[in-house]
Amino acid sequence: MAQFHFVEDYEAYVRKLLKDMPRKQAMEEAIGGAFDHVGEIEAQLLGYAGLKDGMYLVDLGCGSGRAASALGKRFEIDYLGLDVVQDLLDYASEISPPNYRFQLNHALTLPVADASVDMFCCFSVFTHLLHSETYLYLEEMARALTPDGRIVFSFLEFLQPGHWAVFNGTVEGQRTSQVPHLNMFIERGAIEAWCKRLGLEIVRFVDGTDGSPWGGAPLGQSIAILALGEKRKARPFSPAEHDRLRAQLATKTQAIESMATELDLARAEIDVLKQSRSWRVTAPLRALRRVLG
Ligand SMILES: C[S@@+](CC[C@H](N)C(=O)[O-])C[C@H]1O[C@@H](n2cnc3c(N)ncnc32)[C@H](O)[C@@H]1O
Repeated sequence: MAQFHFVEDYEAYVRKLLKDMPRKQAMEEAIGGAFDHVGEIEAQLLGYAGLKDGMYLVDLGCGSGRAASALGKRFEIDYLGLDVVQDLLDYASEISPPNYRFQLNHALTLPVADASVDMFCCFSVFTHLLHSETYLYLEEMARALTPDGRIVFSFLEFLQPGHWAVFNGTVEGQRTSQVPHLNMFIERGAIEAWCKRLGLEIVRFVDGTDGSPWGGAPLGQSIAILALGEKRKARPFSPAEHDRLRAQLATKTQAIESMATELDLARAEIDVLKQSRSWRVTAPLRALRRVLG
């Protein structure tokens, strides 16, 4: 048995699709279909959120490469796709630019260094995770985001009339005693509360019916674009910066220590001179004592 429900759910789902239909169809069906259309929207949306050539993008739950293949036609980026199903990753790799990397990740942590990722995207993934899992991934994204980076994810919410059908389908599944695919709704208030705890800020929400920000079609799911809050931006020192500051501190400490030794010697000389009763010695001595304290 797999450690996490999402690994088990998706592996079983993809296995069944591969058994029932040709590979290309199964790979497109596995992530919700409308492959080229949705991929194009996802790429446009990421451009709107600030993705530019030369950036490093990490796509959590990249599936069979719907976003990756569309991104390859628009941008020259460093890309890492993470997913829980190897069959999907293999297909994604076949249809994406050769420099794109794909990695199996079954953990609630992300295999990326601190402050190293310019943008995270996560489409139709938090919609199938428990809130506590989503929170842990957001925590990881905040850790790994560059100071001016962005987190872009899609979500379902009750106030969007178009999202009701998804909830209704889940309800009907329960009614008929099937075990439905996990569909999680996330309210904007929850995202706000999570951001507050994680030192993130909301750049903008986009309704699922609105494609106007990128001048294209709407995604369907709502979108959140997040950034690091000011306090978190001030946090990271790179390892190189750490080393430089530590060396600077060591030099300063040495200088202060040698000044302290000189001060002790001067005090000792003063004590000797104090024994003289000549005003030629005692007058400048008083001035010196005022300086040395
Ligand atoms: C609905 S599909 C969306 C795929 C892709 N983001 C897109 O928009 O084309 C959800 C994907 O998330 C993956 N997934 C689910 N839970 C995950 C997790 N905890 N970590 C990484 N990927 C996950 C699934 O295997 C699946 O490929």
